[in-house]
Amino acid sequence: MHGKRILLIVGGGIAAFKSLELVRAIRRAGGSVTPVLTAGGAEFVTPLSLAALAEHQVHTELFDVTEEAAMGHIALSRAADLLVVCPATADLLAKMAAGLASDLATTLLLATDTPVLAVPAMNVRMWGHAATLANVATLRARGVTVMEPDEGEMACGEYGPGRLPEIERIMAGIRAALVVETRLAGRHVIVTAGPTHEAIDPVRYLANRSSGKQGFAIAGALAALGARVTLVAGPVELPTPPGCTRIDVVSALDMAAAVERALPADAAVMVAAVGDWRVEAAGSKLKKNGAPPTLALVENPDILATVAVPGPRRPRLVVGFAAETENAVANAVAKRTRKGADWIVANDVSGDVMGGDRNTVHLVGASGVEDWAEMPKAEVARRLALRIADELA
Ligand code: C5P
Repeated sequence: MHGKRILLIVGGGIAAFKSLELVRAIRRAGGSVTPVLTAGGAEFVTPLSLAALAEHQVHTELFDVTEEAAMGHIALSRAADLLVVCPATADLLAKMAAGLASDLATTLLLATDTPVLAVPAMNVRMWGHAATLANVATLRARGVTVMEPDEGEMACGEYGPGRLPEIERIMAGIRAALVVETRLAGRHVIVTAGPTHEAIDPVRYLANRSSGKQGFAIAGALAALGARVTLVAGPVELPTPPGCTRIDVVSALDMAAAVERALPADAAVMVAAVGDWRVEAAGSKLKKNGAPPTLALVENPDILATVAVPGPRRPRLVVGFAAETENAVANAVAKRTRKGADWIVANDVSGDVMGGDRNTVHLVGASGVEDWAEMPKAEVARRLALRIADELA
């Protein structure tokens, strides 16, 4: 973050005090912070503490004669590489979506063409309210990056999504929004992640234990290198990594259609644990009367193999995953040829890999097999993203 200038807008919420910690983290990473405190924010943190940690004057008023004379409010946002709204309250998000300019913070947000990262924190019901959801959707459609809040116990005693994300996650969001690295700028990468749900009837489904963690981490790592990432996600509760366009799907057929629509791409990384079969004729709810029903299964299309078919639409690099409980490498070598993929990332899922945070993988390519040491899924993602960048260079 060296030399990067962050304009930090602090909204009025109980999480505002954490903005102080964020100022320190940004500065430790080499960035500078210009703080803007809303009237609500000033109820929770003092301008003095913000100014002391930022080692920078705090801006609060829109019509402050000295401030306007020294630096107009429009120039204030122009002088930044990124605007970070933290905490972004329901009120601030609503004002941003409506385009209000009723104080310094909202005026800056309206007057800027600098990228904006909003870090929400609010009561769980406020976050889940249709009005907030619509405002967030509007802002995202306009290109504002709105992070997903963390889930957990709230200051008000309720439980659910709405907590300010951990500082480390906010920092990752800032890094991605700043696109500090541009090795994959201008490249489009499709990533599939998570399980699929195959309907048995309207209320039951077949699924698998894929958590989506590795695929989401890969999507985030690619975006952090500047790629345009389309993340086609099966049913998982994970937050969207900063910088990714997410398409939520349920079944393998949905996923295949979403991938098809997302093409063309420079690379496709198929991490999803796609259900191999779907239930034929999943009609009305099965009744428990007499003998147990027999489920007739039909094979799902192989999305990876379809994308890898040679032709003008084939991405330059097609990467598949192979989750195996035995002979991971041998199976991956065979799978690479069978499916027409360029690389297969083999992992042994016999332990607690699925749902866990660490992974041991083997990268199987045309020239052989590389055994990677056990490492966090985030590190696997970063290394793989760098390899993809080398390949597409
Ligand atoms: O054959 P297997 O399911 O082990 O292959 C795994 C790889 O193939 C993964 O990359 C997975 O995303 C992909 N796959 C797919 N469509 C399927 C089944 C698997 O894209 N129907």
